[in-house]
Amino acid sequence: MKSHTSLAKFIHWTFTLLYAYGIFKQVEDLNELQDTSLLNFEIIFAVVFLILVLVRYSYMKDTPALLGAIDEIPKGHLFIAKTVHRLVYFSLIMLPITGLLIAGLFNLKMGGLEMAIAIHEFSAFLSYVVIGLHIGASLYSRLKGEGMWNAMVPVWQESGKKNSKLVLRLENFEHKIYEKVEKFIK
Ligand code: HEM
Ligand code: HEM
Repeated sequence: MKSHTSLAKFIHWTFTLLYAYGIFKQVEDLNELQDTSLLNFEIIFAVVFLILVLVRYSYMKDTPALLGAIDEIPKGHLFIAKTVHRLVYFSLIMLPITGLLIAGLFNLKMGGLEMAIAIHEFSAFLSYVVIGLHIGASLYSRLKGEGMWNAMVPVWQESGKKNSKLVLRLENFEHKIYEKVEKFIK
């Protein structure tokens, strides 16, 4: 069975911790940036975060999505998975870039700060939505035992495909969606 490389897994899980840290230590409001050491720390964090996202993207971009799947994957399913991964990367790139933009505008006391904060907040919101979808889809796939989970997650491993009545009904429903998506992307 195919699996992601050890390096891909290492990057995925260390990056998950970095993202969680970035979200929890977030700046609460603009006044906090008067503190120069906090401002400098934010800038360094954003630069390191951005470099790591770009390194990760360049390492993963040629890796097929849903690599560990036991069964053949419909094109519509692959398209949805790839689109969600791309949106995850987009939000993870926008977060530090707009953070750095806020820092620059704040330092130079220039206009446009409100707009930069609005885009920063939108990027955070988008990351919650797409990463939430990603985790939900991974758990759903884990419950069906499709193999994708085992390819990236080292704990609570699957022991093969479940073929219960419920799974078959869910899969019938999924296939209708994939067919619609396939017509749309043709
Ligand atoms: C904690 C819960 C998480 C679980 C259970 C999980 C599970 C998975 C699984 C099973 C895959 C493999 C999918 C495939 O083969 O196509 C994967 C890939 C991926 N995950 Fe997660 N993930 C989690 C958190 C995250 C977080 C927080 C991020 C973003 C910060 C993220 C971003 C990605 C991306 C972009 C991929 C595609 C492969 C890559 O480019 O590294 N995941 N994840
Ligand atoms: C990778 C780096 C960063 C991450 C992950 C991040 C994440 C976040 C998140 C999740 C929020 C809350 C958004 C919301 O209310 O929905 C936030 C708010 C904020 N961030 Fe960042 N941020 C980063 C970098 C920066 C940088 C470099 C600056 C500027 C020095 C900055 C300045 C702000 C400010 C001022 C707010 C509060 C906006 C308000 O007044 O509501 N961030 N950030």
